[in-house]
Amino acid sequence: MQSDDKRGKLSIVGIGPGGIAQMTGQAADTIRAAEYVIGNAFYLEQIAPLLGGQDVIRSSMGKEVERAQKCVDLARTHRVVMVSGGDPGVYGMASIVLEVMDRAGVPVEYEVVPGVTASCAGASLLGSPLTGDHVTLSLSDLLTPWETIETRLGLAFQMGVPVALYNPKSHGRPENLSRALAIALRHHSPETPVGLVRNAYRVGQETEVTTLGALAEDDSAVDMRTLVIVGGTETFRMQDGGMLTPRGYGRKYVY
Ligand SMILES: C[S@@+](CC[C@H](N)C(=O)[O-])C[C@H]1O[C@@H](n2cnc3c(N)ncnc32)[C@H](O)[C@@H]1O
Repeated sequence: MQSDDKRGKLSIVGIGPGGIAQMTGQAADTIRAAEYVIGNAFYLEQIAPLLGGQDVIRSSMGKEVERAQKCVDLARTHRVVMVSGGDPGVYGMASIVLEVMDRAGVPVEYEVVPGVTASCAGASLLGSPLTGDHVTLSLSDLLTPWETIETRLGLAFQMGVPVALYNPKSHGRPENLSRALAIALRHHSPETPVGLVRNAYRVGQETEVTTLGALAEDDSAVDMRTLVIVGGTETFRMQDGGMLTPRGYGRKYVY
């Protein structure tokens, strides 16, 4: 399929955590108007109701560089959407696509369309655990050396703010979560609340609030589709079991 004016555009679109209902209107409109939609099978499945006339290119996990090169080439003359789960700028496809484009010096018009990232989606299902200052870290050491991740974990837990952990575990690195929890336990009590959200806003959604000590004993409920939120020094469990980090109104007002 070809654009009439031969001028292309590349949209790197965040599709949010799950179904169409969690996607922004801008993301849905951009996907509908595309000539080509590129993404991996899992994400293409999530946006299936928006696919009709577009040419759909399925790519596999782990082929991100190839996928980025392909969409930059196509976007010279076509309206191309690169689909990214959650937000494209949070452990997503935006950086690699822009890097490939920048290195190639290709003058392609582009936009990054934001989406609801997993930490916001997961937090919303637990209560309000991330409320104020917080840190997000990925435990994937595929692109970042583990020593760097360890240093960042130590500094983050030392700050006492809640920490959202992306990519907590996979078949290739099952022990990264237990290493991270051991670092958390150097700075926090074993009673610190920890929220687990698996498949937020997707089929198979599960949530659980446990403690740092209990999760360090048994983390079998966590897999690569889970977001882990380790509470900060002020985080507590609400009476209904939810997880809350107060913003500080209690220091100023009586209620
Ligand atoms: C490569 S990162 C992609 C993050 C994505 N760009 C975002 O903004 O949410 C993948 C990790 O995000 C988390 N994640 C993404 N979507 C999720 C969901 N719907 N429910 C729970 N965790 C999710 C998991 O920790 C997973 O291992």
